[in-house]
Amino acid sequence: MCGIVGYIGHKEAYPIIIKGLKRLEYRGYDSAGVVLYDGNDLKLSKTKGKVSDLEERAKQEGTSAGTIGMGHTRWATHGVPNDVNSHPHFSNSGELVIIHNGIIENYEPLKKELIKRGYTFKSDTDTEVLVNLIEDVQKKDNLKLGKAVQVALNQVVGAYAIVVFDKKKPNELVAARLGSPLAIGVGEDEFFIASDASPFIEYTSNAIYLEDEEMAVIRLGKELKIRKIKDDSLVDPYIQELQMNLEQIEKNGYDHFMLKEIYEQPNVIKDTYRGRLHADTGIIKMAGVEDNLQKFLNANRILIVACGTSWHAGLVAEYIFEEFARIPVEVEYASEFRYRNPIINKDDVVIAISQSGETADTLAAIKMAKENGAFVFGVCNVVGSSISRETHAGAYTHAGPEIGVASTKAFTTQITVLTLIALRLANAKGTLTKSDYFRYLQEMELIPQKVEEALQTNDVAQKVAAAYKDASNCLYLGRGYNFPVALEGALKLKEISYIHAEGYPAAEMKHGPIALIDEQMPVVVVAPKQEHYDKIVSNIQEIKSRSGKIIAVVTKGDTQVKDLADHVIEIPEVSDALSPLVTTIPLQLLSYHIAVMRGCNVDQPRNLAKSVTVE
Ligand code: F6R
Repeated sequence: MCGIVGYIGHKEAYPIIIKGLKRLEYRGYDSAGVVLYDGNDLKLSKTKGKVSDLEERAKQEGTSAGTIGMGHTRWATHGVPNDVNSHPHFSNSGELVIIHNGIIENYEPLKKELIKRGYTFKSDTDTEVLVNLIEDVQKKDNLKLGKAVQVALNQVVGAYAIVVFDKKKPNELVAARLGSPLAIGVGEDEFFIASDASPFIEYTSNAIYLEDEEMAVIRLGKELKIRKIKDDSLVDPYIQELQMNLEQIEKNGYDHFMLKEIYEQPNVIKDTYRGRLHADTGIIKMAGVEDNLQKFLNANRILIVACGTSWHAGLVAEYIFEEFARIPVEVEYASEFRYRNPIINKDDVVIAISQSGETADTLAAIKMAKENGAFVFGVCNVVGSSISRETHAGAYTHAGPEIGVASTKAFTTQITVLTLIALRLANAKGTLTKSDYFRYLQEMELIPQKVEEALQTNDVAQKVAAAYKDASNCLYLGRGYNFPVALEGALKLKEISYIHAEGYPAAEMKHGPIALIDEQMPVVVVAPKQEHYDKIVSNIQEIKSRSGKIIAVVTKGDTQVKDLADHVIEIPEVSDALSPLVTTIPLQLLSYHIAVMRGCNVDQPRNLAKSVTVE
């Protein structure tokens, strides 16, 4: 969490940093700060609130000049969000300044030691401890900044992406990473440092992604040097050409990124299967799967680890893998998996799903699975992310940057990738009949069109939203493939509208949640025409007889549920296994409109951050 931006070059740094911070606000937005070196001195402005509040503060304080600087947008871990705890943080001498994304776990003993040595602290943050530790190390042995950072980081336990500046050496920035992402944009005699490439995309398409335990010393007019923090060995910088473009990270006329991303789904689903799915020949080709096909085919079981929405995609995949490929699947919250004592065997295939590719719990679960000898396959959206590098092999979802904090297109593209893998394995194992296999392939190609049709429910979703925007609670029910969709629908509503919502398998309702149903309770039932349709109709009747309000997602032309429900949202006909790709669309739209009507900050819901790099 937290977004960091640094700049060193010949341009004015302030506008680059502010614009960059706005692009990184998805990573945290409870406070923000900027520091600039104007050729003589350092000028700092920081405040509780968003980057727009920082702009106001910087204007009042006249913080704008300088061609070297750094900025930070925060998601608080140590210390409440307030002006003092905001980054950047100075060392006691005022000579060093730092921005930091991550957590220094052993900051307390380090702080105690520094206090004994006469250091004082203004904030409650672990970051202020780190910058003073660097200063202490530097002063003790009269070290250059890069060396001092290296020595200090070797004493630190935790995670970090940092940028450090030393007033005594004003043509240099030092950056380092462990567990938190850090990209360096390489321009013409200028460098950008950021949590991802979005802050510098319009200036350069050349980027270096630092690996864990690497640091970079960036000097104007000199070659950039990358070293391993542990053993000081030099690393050859690997400069990549960025695939991202500016259009992808702007709203393009939509009111919110979330809405833009919901509407991108037909295209990004197509992008995800393009070149991989060939319905005419029956071929599914994904390099990561082909290269490791035997591992998948010999797997005793597949273990899926993920968090949040990605975990819901994993649940959909459980149904699909078991149905298509007849391989047993277990889906685990990465946070539980890593801290219990799970049984992991060498012939397990572990699939880790993550949009950001940076989620700390998922990353830790992967490391644990690897240590136990399992083959780990990643399904990530962010190219070059930590999880994509930590896994043995993987497949990217080609969703493009997802900026709205609530995940939408990541979910459907994850399901797309996982469905392709399941189909590939089914074909190799012969667990689907040829005609079923071809039918699914052909239907996959029709999914973008069906999602397009589902997006046409927007007006209905808006009307339903108007009727229930003041609800305090909401139940989501679904069966089979649509049980995870119900969970995802409830998560979307609660995270962006702050309405309490629960997802349940429809038949579980009578084992508890039914007690909640009265005339105040909206119940969203995902009820397309599919297997066990009659059972879900019975569940709807049970709600109706207790005066609950029924909002049903049904297949176009449905009459049975229509007669019972207060509102229906019609989606096109789709087979059971592929239905989550379509049924989830109206639920995304419903929560979006409810959140807008309640005046919530849709793209940056309170307390959340897009990339959860702390456990
Ligand atoms: C919900 C949401 C989160 C993420 C979760 C995992 O809308 O976005 O629940 O799904 O934090 O993140 P990734 O997929 O980046 O590992």
